[in-house]
Amino acid sequence: MIVFNNKTEIQDHISKKKAKGTTFGFVPTMGALHNGHLSLVKRALEENDVCVVSIFVNPTQFDNVEDLKKYPRTLERDVSLLGTVSKTILVYAPSVQDIYEGNTKAEHFSFDGIEFEMEGKFRQGHFDGVGTIVKRLFEIITPNNAYFGEKDFQQLAIIKKLAQKYKIPVTVKGCEIYREVNGLAYSSRNERLKPEYKKAAPFIFKILTESKERFGTKSAKQVTEWVEKQFAKNKFLELEYFVIAGITTLKNVKRKSKSKQYRAFVAAYADDIRLIDNIALN
Ligand code: PAF
Repeated sequence: MIVFNNKTEIQDHISKKKAKGTTFGFVPTMGALHNGHLSLVKRALEENDVCVVSIFVNPTQFDNVEDLKKYPRTLERDVSLLGTVSKTILVYAPSVQDIYEGNTKAEHFSFDGIEFEMEGKFRQGHFDGVGTIVKRLFEIITPNNAYFGEKDFQQLAIIKKLAQKYKIPVTVKGCEIYREVNGLAYSSRNERLKPEYKKAAPFIFKILTESKERFGTKSAKQVTEWVEKQFAKNKFLELEYFVIAGITTLKNVKRKSKSKQYRAFVAAYADDIRLIDNIALN
């Protein structure tokens, strides 16, 4: 396993291999790796000759300084965890300077309005930060394929648009949400949950599963009201939003159409930890 901290060095390494026809799969991360990340890495290894994992806590996508400060930084542990999957993985763990070169600012993007829905309403500037870092990483790594978890479904949609709009020659692949046995979606934030909140958190997936069943016979409004009632009764989880949206526009659905695909999205606080999850409804 080679760990690069410098973009020129990893670019040189990759361009030499690409010239010989080697294909690259890319898994961008902010570290604090867990089984969800490892499932993306395994898929990238299956579908490409080499897998590159970036580990970088991107300051421009945080709207909250405290959240950025508290974000776990566990590079040594992350590298050894990746080593248990394959010794051939390339790790890119740059400094803020290597990425932003003294100008730690997000670019401004338009993603046809999907950036203003759900996460965009509650995390100001978040998707500009995500767009900025992912575009830079794509330029540095030049992957053939890039892998993102569907847990961040809105992020995945935005990255697909980013690649399309900027004609970046990469195939962006969404991967199914990886869950703990109790249904809780894997997240780096789960590690920070206090025991009583960790025990309560699988409620989110339980409600999503039940809302999927209800969506068969009820309207989006009825399902939403039912979900809000269930969360109001739960003293460990505070619902920030529950949205049923079409998978293309990510806009709240007013009237169901048989020909469209929908997903339900949740953001909820377990104490001070913000958790998100979603499910395909049809
Ligand atoms: O999903 C994440 O971990 C981050 O948003 C990403 C895509 C690595 C960009 O910093």
